Amino acid sequence: MKARNTFAIALCALTFLCNAQTVIPIETKDFSMVFKTDAQHRLWNIYFGKKLKNTSDYKQIDEQYYFPDANAGIYNSAYTPSGTWNLSEPALQVKHFDGNRSTELLFRDVSIANQDGATVTKIKLQDPVYQLEVVLHYKVWSDLNVVEQWAEIINNEKGKIELNKYASANLFFTNKDFYLTHFQGEYLREMMPTEEKLTQGTKTVESKLGTRAMLLGTPNFIVSFENPVQEDSGMALVGQLAWSGNYKLEFDIDSNKNLRLIAGINPYESTYELQKGERFKTPSLIYSISKEGTGLASRQLHSWAKSHRVLNGNGDRLTLLNNWEATYFDFNEDKLSGLIEDTKHLGLDLFLLDDGWFGNKYPRNNDDAGLGDWQENKQKLPNGLGYLVQEADKNEVKFGIWIEPEMVNPESELFKTHPNWVIKQPERSAKLYRNQMVLDLSNPEVQDFVYGVVDNIFTKNPKVAFVKWDCNAVIYNAYSAYLQEKGMPQTHLYVDYVQGLYNVLERIRKKYPDVSMMLCSGGGGRADYEFLKYFTEFWPSDNTDPIERIFLQWNYTYFFPAITMDCHVTNWGNQPLKFKVDVASMGKLGFDVDVNHLTKDELEFSKRAIKNYNGFKHLVLHGEQFRLASPYQNPYASLMYVDKNKSKAVMFNYLSSNRFMERMTKRPIKMKGLDADKNYIIKEVNLNKNDEGSFVNPVKYSGDFLMTVGINPEINVKRTSVVLLIEEVK
Ligand code: DGJ
Repeated sequence: MKARNTFAIALCALTFLCNAQTVIPIETKDFSMVFKTDAQHRLWNIYFGKKLKNTSDYKQIDEQYYFPDANAGIYNSAYTPSGTWNLSEPALQVKHFDGNRSTELLFRDVSIANQDGATVTKIKLQDPVYQLEVVLHYKVWSDLNVVEQWAEIINNEKGKIELNKYASANLFFTNKDFYLTHFQGEYLREMMPTEEKLTQGTKTVESKLGTRAMLLGTPNFIVSFENPVQEDSGMALVGQLAWSGNYKLEFDIDSNKNLRLIAGINPYESTYELQKGERFKTPSLIYSISKEGTGLASRQLHSWAKSHRVLNGNGDRLTLLNNWEATYFDFNEDKLSGLIEDTKHLGLDLFLLDDGWFGNKYPRNNDDAGLGDWQENKQKLPNGLGYLVQEADKNEVKFGIWIEPEMVNPESELFKTHPNWVIKQPERSAKLYRNQMVLDLSNPEVQDFVYGVVDNIFTKNPKVAFVKWDCNAVIYNAYSAYLQEKGMPQTHLYVDYVQGLYNVLERIRKKYPDVSMMLCSGGGGRADYEFLKYFTEFWPSDNTDPIERIFLQWNYTYFFPAITMDCHVTNWGNQPLKFKVDVASMGKLGFDVDVNHLTKDELEFSKRAIKNYNGFKHLVLHGEQFRLASPYQNPYASLMYVDKNKSKAVMFNYLSSNRFMERMTKRPIKMKGLDADKNYIIKEVNLNKNDEGSFVNPVKYSGDFLMTVGINPEINVKRTSVVLLIEEVK
């Protein structure tokens, strides 16, 4: 403890001393999280809730709560260490340079700076015995009630240390009841929500899959305070750990019924060594806090994502025709040229060539060979990609390409030449996932290779305007020949893989800052806000059955704005084409159908609907989203997007359950987000040729009426989806 007196306490506007204890409020527009030191200079989280008018009131908060030392430790540490006084789940576990495993963290100083339109508070903690420093970062976009927080662990000890657990965030909440919604799934069933009331003990949500980490469970969550999740009322926290590898979220109700949340990289097989002088920056926990339920929380998060995170988040997106379900691996130049013409004919912006265009010695005619050999297949594409790019150019559409550069089939030249580049236990037989293995991105040579795949495509074909980056395998038999050769611990692999991938993406974005890229993962195993720094959009699921998509897309809307969500019309599902197009129009619209199989009416309808989409897409991509009726609580779903001036909006209504007993009764759906004092007319779009629709003759409604009484879109078995445009009239 002798170091205690030497700690300098840096004071700044938002920090103050009370009886020699430092109080640090971290405030957003509506909320605050408050830290306070004790006489020993330990730092405690004493408050997370509605902001108080007077900052000076914060110092009295902890007197009102009961934060005892319950033998197992005191639960509200700002970053819980292990091996000393604490016996609850730690945020940090360290083996020091001399082998000692005990850590204490005492407050050292705090500083505040402005960065990217946000306020960053840095709180420095230090072990009084070891030269180990932890800097907690809180980046706050006050108006949006969005916080991004992470930790930096700095080794100034005399030698190497081991990080056994190194969480990004250690939050503490004191409400009476907590409800957690987490999103688990499977291939084709991604992002399925479960809500549960948290009871004493720890609920863990985690992934150990290595690559497509979100496949079985996602790092997205909603914590609702006092009551189960409500759309428009109650305090809710909508968050995500922005890390594209193994993660662990621990929701721990302590013995005083308070909630601790410890979130970070999954420590499973991931002990990380830090050499003397090195530092480790954890990934970020990002969350939006709302006093008006999940609706506002999502809108805040969407605004943040568009303006501060997603690549080209406030820009445009390209509608497209994808050939995957139209051809699978079976295509040639002529067929593709035809599809390029169809792209133009339909009025879409871009043709996207999917899997199967590469590999010669091991041609990619199926998913069992060729992955890794990124040269055009001479039989299918004798004139190379360049010819197709030209064809697209001729047809005044853009060209996009599918790649899966992190993976390899054993049946490939790449694997035969570089068997050491794959992740695999040397003494064990390989376990394949979709006939493929994962390349070892901890190896800088492999990073160069993956970067080269993209760089070669763009260098040879500068007009390529879109990349679909797929990932269809998890990491089995985790072992890196590279780490072994370098004498580095194998437990670095899961972390170094992800960081290696970020390095590659960083390099790609340096050279090609603007090209649109879709994050795909054999469906929706990958979508997080660290990846979305480099990608413009993601693929939510290979499940494109429009009924399923209503639910899937609904669930993604809690966390991601529509501009990031790729939604394609395919042959999945037995619903009419109109229904499919209407569901896919709720994000970035694409088609993945054989245009020759469309009837004349369907073709005409598609062209009209694409034109309509182009007319209202600014509302979907840039408007504010309001979830109106949940398909989980009704036999229908309804959402709307409203522009900033509240003068234009688009409303999507879908019949999601067709049981006779559940069919929608004549009941209006209340709109949201309009101006009560404005008047609007409503027009139905995407009608089939001879349909009349219910809003053929524009009727004037006040915003007040639309939001208080609502309108009935008259969804029924004959009208399973209804898209309405709402426009202000003077
Ligand atoms: C999985 C993706 O989700 C599909 O859209 C398609 O690109 C295939 N991979 C291609 O192999």
